[in-house]
Amino acid sequence: MCGIFAYLNYNVKTERRHILEVLFNGLRRLEYRGYDSSGISIDSDLSSDPDVKSRQPLVFRQEGKIESLVRSVYQEANTIDLNLEESFSVHAAIAHTRWATHGVPSPRNSHPQSSGAGNEFLVVHNGIITNYEVLKETLVRHGFTFESDTDTEVIPKLAKFVFDKTNDEQGGQAVTFSQVVLEVMRHLEGAYALIFKSSHYPNELVACKRGSPLLLGIKESTQDVNNGTPFHDDKFLTSKGHPKELFFSSDTHALVEHTKKVLVIEDDEVVHLKDGGVSILKFDHHKAEKHGRLPRPASVQRALSVLEMEVEQIKKGNYEHFMQKEIHEQPESLTTTMRGRLIRGGSCKAKSVLLGGLKDRLKTIRRSRRIVFIGCGTSYNAALAARPFMEELSGVPVTMELASDLLDREGPICREDTAVFVSQSGETADTLHALEYAQNNGALCVGITNTVSSAIARKTECGVHINAGCEIGVASTKAYTSQIVVMAMMALAIGDDTISSQARREAVVDGLFDLPNKVREVLKLDDEMKDLAKLLMDEQSLLVFGRGYNYATALEGALKVKEVSLMHSEGILAGEMKHGPLALVDETLPIIVIATHDACFSKQQSVIQQLHARKGRLIVMCSKGKASLVCPNGTCRVIEVPQVEDCLQPVINIVPLQLLAYHLTVLRGYNVDQPRNLAKSVTTQ
Ligand code: BG6
Repeated sequence: MCGIFAYLNYNVKTERRHILEVLFNGLRRLEYRGYDSSGISIDSDLSSDPDVKSRQPLVFRQEGKIESLVRSVYQEANTIDLNLEESFSVHAAIAHTRWATHGVPSPRNSHPQSSGAGNEFLVVHNGIITNYEVLKETLVRHGFTFESDTDTEVIPKLAKFVFDKTNDEQGGQAVTFSQVVLEVMRHLEGAYALIFKSSHYPNELVACKRGSPLLLGIKESTQDVNNGTPFHDDKFLTSKGHPKELFFSSDTHALVEHTKKVLVIEDDEVVHLKDGGVSILKFDHHKAEKHGRLPRPASVQRALSVLEMEVEQIKKGNYEHFMQKEIHEQPESLTTTMRGRLIRGGSCKAKSVLLGGLKDRLKTIRRSRRIVFIGCGTSYNAALAARPFMEELSGVPVTMELASDLLDREGPICREDTAVFVSQSGETADTLHALEYAQNNGALCVGITNTVSSAIARKTECGVHINAGCEIGVASTKAYTSQIVVMAMMALAIGDDTISSQARREAVVDGLFDLPNKVREVLKLDDEMKDLAKLLMDEQSLLVFGRGYNYATALEGALKVKEVSLMHSEGILAGEMKHGPLALVDETLPIIVIATHDACFSKQQSVIQQLHARKGRLIVMCSKGKASLVCPNGTCRVIEVPQVEDCLQPVINIVPLQLLAYHLTVLRGYNVDQPRNLAKSVTTQ
């Protein structure tokens, strides 16, 4: 997935240097979405040639992190003597940070992609155009030459093709920018969020989307005549003529420092910024070009929403890295996840849970034939950790599906099923497609996400927002523990009607209330994990054994080590050890065994003995004060963690492994927040 951003200042005098800084800052906030190359487009100086009325768009593109783009832009500006102090009362600029899908990271494959010489049309794109080869062939036949290996380059060239063709056929009668974009959309297949800039439409921008996320942010200008008191009327904010600053962004992270007034752009909507006005048009698949005349689209009225997040959330605060911050934020993020949802109960009321987004569907879920958990990566592991408790309290069979595998197999989903989609970003393409697949098969679809305005949150029938706050580190940490807690609360709500489990449910509710404190306690192992990382930093490989509730902990712990420290690591179901993995055991390969107290403890004790028998190099995670039970002769390293309710233990047990992965990455000198080749959520299949 990539990050796309745009900035248009309307009747707000702004220096070119400030415009550049707004673009660079927007890209820095979106860099976690993709960070192998980037680019921007701004307007040039007015040409000395009196016939050239409009300013030519300038394009700057660079391989590598945003900072290398920043350096190259200021160098080039110097070379071409670009006046950075020149100020513009109106100016439209676009920007992009890339996660390569088509074409290696390089300046020519970076965005904005262009229609050709003169940059008549420029586009930044997040997503994949699946029919780009067919379109490319057609455009080559019409004389276009392609410079990049990207799928995106067909879009600005198609816009020029439509523009030239329509102008000819309409005898030069002006076609609007949004009409050109609507016609381009008619030819595009795949997932996309796009922002167009054009020398034919100076000071205008047009954005559109299908499948990939896109938002518009509106900042009213204090320069406005209304004596500086902000106008609260959305109609005013979107109407023409009033000084304002407008921002397009792939997500809220690049908007919140400018404004909280946002518009979540829906699929097939086209947003046209012109003369300070915002018009929203709906692309109608059925309306096509007739007799060379482009269709007049229906305009849409929509209210702005107000972001519920603070700028602090997208800053590191006193931490070195976002991952480190997000690991240490877990006591607070878990508290917000449970806020207003846990009922302490009293003399006449039992302890229970209230999930507003689910309460009207609990009866249906209880009658389900199956509950199917569907997700990718860490979100899948969170669902796996919650499965045993969901089975126990709901009494409904619970199956697990990796989204991509379910789609590959076209696995059975039917109308009696409840399909639960777990996704931090709410935008992961495989999970989204699995949602469409389940909806087409009539299942009740429930969403568990961390992003309010995300596609999965909007497209599911009901759901729970995990409220973990922004997660910027690409390796998911606080979202994982909040996802487990939300699914535990979901199990409590579904199982709320069975007397037999009341004592169990009350014990778990108590455990939930006390969980943030227990996490604060386990975070005290930070230095110990750093020491362990020093011991393991030169290792090639690491195994993690877990079972029952902690099979998921083994998978997630290994995933964290893989994702960020780039060390091979494998999470293994301890019960499978003798059926293969045991062959790997010797006195050199480090092995973490999760053996905290629960119903599987005695089995884990025998696993430890068998590994000892083969001189295994063990690191055992056990409940506080139980070291002697897992390592009687003191020969192995022990990580003692607080004991909590068994179904909540995965929330505690993952924290030392998150810290280990973090310290291993720092010690091995790798990038913690933007690991090689990964992205925060993959919005393309
Ligand atoms: C990957 C992220 O791209 O997607 C992982 O790097 C994440 O951290 C996985 O777990 C699934 O993302 P999401 O947003 O659907 O939970």
